[in-house]
Amino acid sequence: MGNLSFQLILSCSYLFCLICIASGFVPLDNYLIDCGSPRNASVGNRTFLADNFYSDILSTAQNILANTNSSSLSSSYDSTLYLTARIFDQASRYTFPIKENGRHLIRLYFFPFVYREYNLSTAKFSISAQNFTLLEGFQLDKGSVVKEYSFNITTNQLVLTFTPNTDSFAFVNALEVISLPIELIPHSARIVEMPGDYQNLQSKALETVLRVNMGNQTVHPQKDTLWRLWVSDDTFLKHSTVSIVSNVKAVTYKNGNVTENIAPPSVYGTATKLDSVLDPNLNVNITWLFSVDAGFNYLVRFHFCDIVNSTLGSFLFNVYINSWFAYRSFDLSTLTSNVIGRPYYFDVITSSTSSSALSVSVGPSPEGSYPMAILNGLEIMKISNSQDSLETSDSENGSLKTNSRSKIILIAGLSGGICIVLVVVSALFFVCRRRRKLAAVGHSKEDNFVMNQTGDKNSNSLAVFSTSTFGYRYPFTAIEEATNNFSEDLIIGTGGFGKVYKGIFRDGTKVAVKRGQSKSQQGLTEFRTEIEMLSQFRHRHLVSLIGYCDERNEMIIIYEFMENGTLKSHLYCSDRPVLSWKQRLEICIGSAKGLHYLHTGSTRAIIHRDVKSANILLDENLMAKVADFGLSKTGPEIDQTHVSTAVKGSFGYLDPEYLTRQQLTEKSDVYSFGVVMLEILCGRAVIDPSLPREKVNLVEWAMKWRERGRIQETIDPHLVAQASEESLWKFVEIAEKCLAQCGLDRPQMGDVLWNLESALQVQLKEEKPSDKGELAPRADWIGYLDTHPSASTTQFSMGSLGDLASVSMSKLFAKMAKEDMR
Ligand SMILES: *[C@@H]1O[C@H](CO)[C@@H](O)[C@H](O)[C@H]1NC(C)=O
Ligand SMILES: *[C@@H]1O[C@H](CO)[C@@H](O)[C@H](O)[C@H]1NC(C)=O
Ligand SMILES: *[C@@H]1O[C@H](CO)[C@@H](O)[C@H](O)[C@H]1NC(C)=O
Ligand SMILES: *[C@@H]1O[C@H](CO)[C@@H](O)[C@H](O)[C@H]1NC(C)=O
Ligand SMILES: *[C@@H]1O[C@H](CO)[C@@H](O)[C@H](O)[C@H]1NC(C)=O
Ligand SMILES: *[C@@H]1O[C@H](CO)[C@@H](O)[C@H](O)[C@H]1NC(C)=O
Ligand SMILES: *[C@@H]1O[C@H](CO)[C@@H](O)[C@H](O)[C@H]1NC(C)=O
Ligand SMILES: *[C@@H]1O[C@H](CO)[C@@H](O)[C@H](O)[C@H]1NC(C)=O
Ligand SMILES: *[C@@H]1O[C@H](CO)[C@@H](O)[C@H](O)[C@H]1NC(C)=O
Ligand SMILES: *[C@@H]1O[C@H](CO)[C@@H](O)[C@H](O)[C@H]1NC(C)=O
Ligand SMILES: *[C@@H]1O[C@H](CO)[C@@H](O)[C@H](O)[C@H]1NC(C)=O
Repeated sequence: MGNLSFQLILSCSYLFCLICIASGFVPLDNYLIDCGSPRNASVGNRTFLADNFYSDILSTAQNILANTNSSSLSSSYDSTLYLTARIFDQASRYTFPIKENGRHLIRLYFFPFVYREYNLSTAKFSISAQNFTLLEGFQLDKGSVVKEYSFNITTNQLVLTFTPNTDSFAFVNALEVISLPIELIPHSARIVEMPGDYQNLQSKALETVLRVNMGNQTVHPQKDTLWRLWVSDDTFLKHSTVSIVSNVKAVTYKNGNVTENIAPPSVYGTATKLDSVLDPNLNVNITWLFSVDAGFNYLVRFHFCDIVNSTLGSFLFNVYINSWFAYRSFDLSTLTSNVIGRPYYFDVITSSTSSSALSVSVGPSPEGSYPMAILNGLEIMKISNSQDSLETSDSENGSLKTNSRSKIILIAGLSGGICIVLVVVSALFFVCRRRRKLAAVGHSKEDNFVMNQTGDKNSNSLAVFSTSTFGYRYPFTAIEEATNNFSEDLIIGTGGFGKVYKGIFRDGTKVAVKRGQSKSQQGLTEFRTEIEMLSQFRHRHLVSLIGYCDERNEMIIIYEFMENGTLKSHLYCSDRPVLSWKQRLEICIGSAKGLHYLHTGSTRAIIHRDVKSANILLDENLMAKVADFGLSKTGPEIDQTHVSTAVKGSFGYLDPEYLTRQQLTEKSDVYSFGVVMLEILCGRAVIDPSLPREKVNLVEWAMKWRERGRIQETIDPHLVAQASEESLWKFVEIAEKCLAQCGLDRPQMGDVLWNLESALQVQLKEEKPSDKGELAPRADWIGYLDTHPSASTTQFSMGSLGDLASVSMSKLFAKMAKEDMR
C-alpha cells in the first residue's frame, strides 16, 4: 500500500515535472510588443501583441508607425518583428506596470529600413530605463540587432525612455520586458584579477554581450526557456586542436543545483573539447577571443557538463580569462558528484579590460592525470559602471569634458535621504567613539571601481593590478620583513579597513603599510579604489602610493611614511608640540593645493568626500598631504551602503546641502575643508560631546560667535599671541565662505587657496620686522597688557587686534605669552 502511494506520488511529480518542462518558465511580467504593427505576431511559442494594444503605456508623443516589405531579411524565427517599427520624433516613454520586483529582462529589436522620408539607418538616439543608460547615440547602419539588458526593478513600474538626438529620431521594431527567475543572476561573484568578491551586482544593470554555445552549434531562442540566443563558438575559436562533442540526451538537471533556466540542455549537451586522443602529452590551450568595450567590468559565466563520459575517468583543467586564472585545476567530476551529464556553472567578474579583447581559455592542468579540457557554454555580460551607464560616456570627448566636471552630482533616492538622517543620529556616537583612531586608514564602502568609465584612462586604471603595467606590486615576503612580520609594536593606526603598520624596507625606505582584513567584504573595493586613485594622481600634496600586495588573499597598500602623523593629532588630543599660526596656514595651503589638484587636475573632477583633519597627514617638515582616497569618486552611486558610509566617514564635516538635497559636488569638499579650517583655528574637535551642549558642534558654536562678531571667543588660545589680526580675519572670512549653506555660495578650492596664500603673506609681513621667533612681534604688547590689564580692552579695540580683544582673552593671552617667554 505504502509502496503504491509512493509510486503515485512519484508519477504525479513526474507528470508535474513534465508540465513544468513543457511550459518552460512563465514570467509574471510579460510584455511583448511588435512595435508599429497593426496585428499580433507569433514568434515561436510567443505572441508579440499589436502596437496599439499597449498604446496606453506610451507617453503621448507624435509617433509614427512604419513598415517595410524588405526582402533583405532572411526568414529567421523573429523576422516578422522586423517588418514594422515605431518611430519617435521626440523623447517618449513607455511606462510598464510591474507586478513582480526583481531582475527583469529587456530586449530591444532593431532593424533599419526606409519608410517614407524616414531612413532608419540615419536615426541616432539614446535609450534609458529607470536610471540606467542603456544606449547612447545609438545608430544602426544595417542588419538586425537584438539588444538585451537586465536589471533589478524595485518599484512598481519600469520607465523606458527613448530620446532622439537633436535633428534625429528614434525607432524600435519590437520590445520585450519579462521578469527573470531569481536564481539567474547572483548578488556577488568572484573577481578574477584579485582575491575577493565583487559585491552588489543586484544594483547593476547588465547588458548581454554574447551567449556562446560551444560545440559549433547555434541554439535558437525557441529552445531556451528564456528565449535566449546562444551563438555558435566557431567564429571566436582560435585555431587549435579541438574536437566537437554532442550528447544532448546525457544532460540531466536532476538533483543538481542548475536549472534549465540557467542554460538549456542544447547548450550543456554540446561542447568543444581538447582533442587529446592522438597525443596523450598534448599541452595546449583552447582559446576563444571576444571583442568587448574597454573600460567596463564583465560578468562571465562558464557552463560545463561532462557529456563525454570518458573511460579514462576524472580530469582536471585550468580555466583562464585574459591569462588570469578563472579557475585553477577545475575538477568537474567532483563538483557534479561524478554524475555524468549533470550541468555545472560558475561566475566570475573580470575587470582587466584595458583592451577591447577578452580571451577565454581552457587548458590542461599539470595536476591532472591526462590532458583534457572542455567548455560547454559561455556568457559575457557587461556591468553598468558607477554612472549607471552601459555606454562609454562621451565625456572624454571635446567640450563635454569640462561640462561633465561641473555636473558630477550624486543624487540619492528619497529612501537614501531618510537613511542618512537615521545614520547621522547613530553616527554621532559612533564618531565620538572612534575619534582617536588614526585616519590614514580608509573605510570607504564603495562597491565599484571608480575610474573604469573614463575611457581615456583605461590604460592606467584597469591595468592597476597587473605587474606588467605598474611596478607597484610588492611581494608579500618583502612586506613581512619590512614590518617585522606585522609586529604589534609597529602599529600606527587602526580603522575600518584594518591596521596600519610602520615598515622599513631593506633599502631603508620608511613606509606605512595598510593591511586590510581579509574577512572584510567591502575591503576589496576600497582597496581597489585607493590603488586606482593613488596610482593615477601624483602630487606633492597627496600621499603617494608606494605599492600594494594582493598575494595570498592579502589586501595591502603601501604608502609613503608620514613622519608627523595626522593634522588632527597636532591640533588636539595629543602631546605633540603646538603648531604655530604660520605652520597652520602652511598646512592649510598644502592641503588646499592637494584638493585643488584633485578637483581640477584631471579631465574629471575627483571628489575626495572625506576631507577631515584626520585625513591630512604631515611629513617630517610638517608639509601637508591629503590621504585616504577610499571614498573618492568621480561619479554618483545610489546604493544605501555607500551613502551611509559617507556620512559615517565624515560626520561633522558633512556638507549640509548633501544631507538635505543629496547632492554631492566638489563644493562638499570645500565645506569639509571649511570645517578643517575651523578646527585649525579653534584647536578643538569637530564634535566634542564632553563639552557643554552649545559647544559640542564646532561649526555651530564658532558660527554663532561669528554672527555675534566675537569669533575670538573660539580661537585656539595658543594662537592669540602670534597670529596677525588681519591674517586671522582673512582666515575666518574664507572659512565662513567655505561653510556657506548653499554650495553655489562657496568658493572654488582655487579661490580658497589664493586667499589662504594672501593670509599667509599678511602674517609673514607682520612677523618680518623682528626675526626673534614667532612670539617676538607681540612681546611689547604683552608686557603692556600684563601691567595694565584694565587698559587691555581699549588698547585692543583701538589697536591692530581690533575685534579680537576681550578681557578674558587678553588675560589668557598675556599669561600664555609670559610663560612662553620664560
Ligand atoms: C492580440 O492579442 C490580444 C491578447 O491575446 C488580443 O486581446 C488582441 O485582440 C489581439 N489583437 C489583434 C489585432 O489580433
Ligand atoms: C513550443 O511549442 C511546441 C509545439 O507547439 C512545443 O513542442 C515546444 O516544446 C514549445 N517550446 C517551448 C520552449 O515551450
Ligand atoms: C514594397 O516593395 C516594392 C518594390 O520593392 C515597392 O515598390 C513598394 O513601394 C514597397 N511597399 C512598401 C509598403 O514599402
Ligand atoms: C539610408 O541611410 C544610409 C546610411 O546613411 C545610406 O547608406 C542609405 O543609402 C540610405 N538609404 C536611402 C534609401 O536613402
Ligand atoms: C532615479 O533617480 C531619481 C533621482 O534622479 C530618483 O528620484 C528615482 O527614485 C530613481 N529611480 C529609480 C527607479 O531608481
Ligand atoms: C533587487 O533589489 C532588492 C532591493 O535592493 C533586493 O532585496 C533583491 O534581492 C534584488 N533582487 C535581485 C534579483 O537582485
Ligand atoms: C563548424 O561548423 C562549420 C559548418 O557549420 C564548419 O565549416 C566548421 O569547420 C566547424 N568547425 C569546427 C571547429 O568543427
Ligand atoms: C548546491 O548548492 C549548495 C548550496 O549553494 C551546495 O552546498 C551544494 O554542494 C550544491 N550541490 C551541488 C550538487 O552542486
Ligand atoms: C557512460 O559510459 C558507461 C560505459 O562506458 C555507460 O554505462 C553509461 O551509461 C554512460 N553514461 C551516460 C550518461 O552516457
Ligand atoms: C594557457 O594559457 C595560460 C594563460 O594565458 C598560460 O599561462 C599557459 O601557459 C597556457 N598553456 C599552454 C599549454 O599554452
Ligand atoms: C570625439 O568625437 C568625434 C566626432 O564626434 C569622433 O570622431 C572622435 O573619435 C571622438 N573622440 C573620442 C576620443 O571619442
